[in-house]
Amino acid sequence: MSYNLLKGKRGLIFGALNENSIAWKTAVRAYEEGAVFVLTNTPASMKMGTIDQLAKQCNTIVIAADATNVEDLENLIHKGTEYLGGKFDFILHSIGMSPNVRKGRTYDDLDYHYLHQTIDISALSFHKVLQTCHKLDAINDWGSVVALSYIASQRTLYGYNDMADAKALLESIARSFGYIYGREKNIRINTVSQSPTMTTAGGGIMGFDKILDFADRMSPLGNATAEECADYLITLFSDLTRKVTMQNLFHDGGYSSMGMSKAAMSVYNEGLEYTDVKIDRSKKK
Ligand SMILES: NC(=O)c1ccc[n+]([C@@H]2O[C@H](COP(=O)([O-])OP(=O)(O)OC[C@H]3O[C@@H](n4cnc5c(N)ncnc54)[C@H](O)[C@@H]3O)[C@@H](O)[C@H]2O)c1
Repeated sequence: MSYNLLKGKRGLIFGALNENSIAWKTAVRAYEEGAVFVLTNTPASMKMGTIDQLAKQCNTIVIAADATNVEDLENLIHKGTEYLGGKFDFILHSIGMSPNVRKGRTYDDLDYHYLHQTIDISALSFHKVLQTCHKLDAINDWGSVVALSYIASQRTLYGYNDMADAKALLESIARSFGYIYGREKNIRINTVSQSPTMTTAGGGIMGFDKILDFADRMSPLGNATAEECADYLITLFSDLTRKVTMQNLFHDGGYSSMGMSKAAMSVYNEGLEYTDVKIDRSKKK
């Protein structure tokens, strides 16, 4: 159902790789809600994925850009605002990648060159997008910028690796730039901390099916899907949330406030007495 929440708004959407991507679902919803926007991804991802199909569906164009490259971003902003006939009202940063995760390097055996890449792609790119937009004055007053985060930024989750550090920095950038952009132009900047979601980036995390199951059991409302995340993002781009800024907003079915749930406890109860599952702390794991 459409409510015309983004009627008359212009946007820029990073990170639609294929139809599982959170950015893809958000583009579809933004289109339904009356927005016009341009899509962007790296040349390699454009080849690997199906973003052209999405562009057709949303009656728009794709402009190639590596979000770690400021020249690419300048070109993207010039071309994007020219195509749309004005500045952006909303921007979605839906970008994440860790070469350490991809290559199976654990957190106590990180390759530091890869770590730099993880931080650059998954966090600094957000600063680069904001700083480049700021210098080019590319966002309208009362605009809204959102980046996607994950709870591992604040609590240790086995297997999330150096992406946890990148997400912590990402959330901090939202606060620091949120102050500047809010003060100067009433532009709000937030991160949305989404439930684990089966996408290309998500699926790369070690033991992801277990993380999905655990989070689902722990969340009173169950895991939030990519479609539900898109719905939430639409509200954040709309005029209904104009005073929400510098926040990390959990969109996770209640997971972040839970300690233990009945559904998660049941895993331990299945045919096992408590004493059977007691961890032997004398053994190093
Ligand atoms: N899937 C999950 O479980 C989950 C949970 C919480 C947060 N997130 C976050 O959501 C965001 C979107 O991920 P997704 O799950 O939709 O996966 P996805 O793989 O569909 O999207 C990741 C995108 O990042 C893009 N990207 C990588 N390097 C880039 C670069 N240098 N420049 C520009 N784009 C680049 C990829 O091309 C891809 O489109 C990420 O920030 C991710 O960390 C995902």
